[in-house]
Amino acid sequence: MFQDLRWRITLMFVGLSAIIYIALTVLGLIIFEHGLNASLDKQLKVVLSEIGHAIDIDNGTPKFRDWIRTVQTEPPRSLATIQLFDSTGHLLEHYGAAGVKQLFHTSSESHNENKSVRVLCSPIMLNRVTRGFVQIQLSTRERDQALSELQWDACLIGILFLFALSVTSYWIAKRVTRPIQDSIQILQSFVADASHELNTPLTILQARIESLERKLSKLGIQQEDLTIAAKSLERLNQVVNDLLLLSEVEDPISEISKTQVNISSLIHQVANEMKDRFAAKSITLTIHGIPEIFVNGNSEALHRLFCNLLENALRYTDEHGQVNVSLDSSDKDTRITIEDTGIGIPAESLPRIFDRFFRVDKSRSRASGGTGLGLAIVKAIADAHHGTISVQSQPGHGSRFTVIVPSLYHHRSKKKVISLL
Ligand SMILES: Nc1ncnc2c1ncn2[C@@H]1O[C@H](COP(=O)(O)OP(=O)(O)OP(=O)(O)O)[C@@H](O)[C@H]1O
Ligand SMILES: [Mg+2]
Repeated sequence: MFQDLRWRITLMFVGLSAIIYIALTVLGLIIFEHGLNASLDKQLKVVLSEIGHAIDIDNGTPKFRDWIRTVQTEPPRSLATIQLFDSTGHLLEHYGAAGVKQLFHTSSESHNENKSVRVLCSPIMLNRVTRGFVQIQLSTRERDQALSELQWDACLIGILFLFALSVTSYWIAKRVTRPIQDSIQILQSFVADASHELNTPLTILQARIESLERKLSKLGIQQEDLTIAAKSLERLNQVVNDLLLLSEVEDPISEISKTQVNISSLIHQVANEMKDRFAAKSITLTIHGIPEIFVNGNSEALHRLFCNLLENALRYTDEHGQVNVSLDSSDKDTRITIEDTGIGIPAESLPRIFDRFFRVDKSRSRASGGTGLGLAIVKAIADAHHGTISVQSQPGHGSRFTVIVPSLYHHRSKKKVISLL
């Protein structure tokens, strides 16, 4: 249970950290790219403002002055592509690095001709008439390379960071859950010790009351108070025994002993033991499924598990109802479902149904002798077998309890249907 909790805390922590890391990394990359683009745009503007002075208009057509050819080898300009277009978009002159030979009317980024460039274009006006365009391009290769390197670095750092975080969060989860684990163990051993201490005097008391009852009835004296006391004592005994069983099954130190158990015949045995009580309420009990399924389990504990589930099906189903038990097995799991057409369980009670002393309708349950420990025992037994128990229910229509335990092996011969009533 605690191992599971530690992994859940670790996974939650690492998952949340991964989301935050990815979000921050993406944000960081966007800001970094934005910064690089701003720097490229600034360079484009600087080159354009310098080049602007070197343009003449000859017979209505723009052309570069001669000195541009001598200075265009200067570092910023030599990296830039400087192009001059006429008013129709026809390329007139071209200096600097090889760029994309195309006029972009808007300042943008282009990925044509297998080249990625950032562009700044400005119209050349004379007497309010556009005579041509001057366009500066800068390759985005350096920027893209820087971004890609940063992305890889961020991935690598992320993996290392999450690995380190997993180790530390598992260690922290272990330390954090230790006091809870200790308190639960103290509570469990308190319940176990108290139940153990109560068990002996209660058994003696019960035996003495029964003998007193017998003696008085021999003398012809009917003692109603004594009968009530005997019943209450029996109930108290039941609670103490249930608590003892729960602490035994839940004991993390001494795991319950397990052998090869034929779960199909165990269920038939439980059903046979209870069939008269089902008949008394005219409830049809049927068992469907594979006749030979073996699991690694404790037959006494599994007997108790099915007893409790069938007891509930009997107790919470009205006369002339139906209870179906079905058994199925794969190589991995064995699935046992116990379905009744009883009163059902309201949806809001379903999450608490396996809690100790929880009862949906306390008065009804108490009247029928229930203490609310039956399903807690069922859950503890299923857990001790590395299995699960789940419930689906619809008030007024019935409930279905599904127990899944790991399979040992099964004989998938013809499916058998047994109707007990
Ligand atoms: N098959 C069922 N149909 C309807 N309600 C159910 C069913 N099984 C359990 N419940 C509800 O769940 C509650 C808890 O069941 P649980 O078996 O733990 O206790 P209980 O039957 O009241 O007492 P006991 O400890 O004697 O079993 C019951 O009080 C009942 O309200
Ligand atoms: Mg019960």
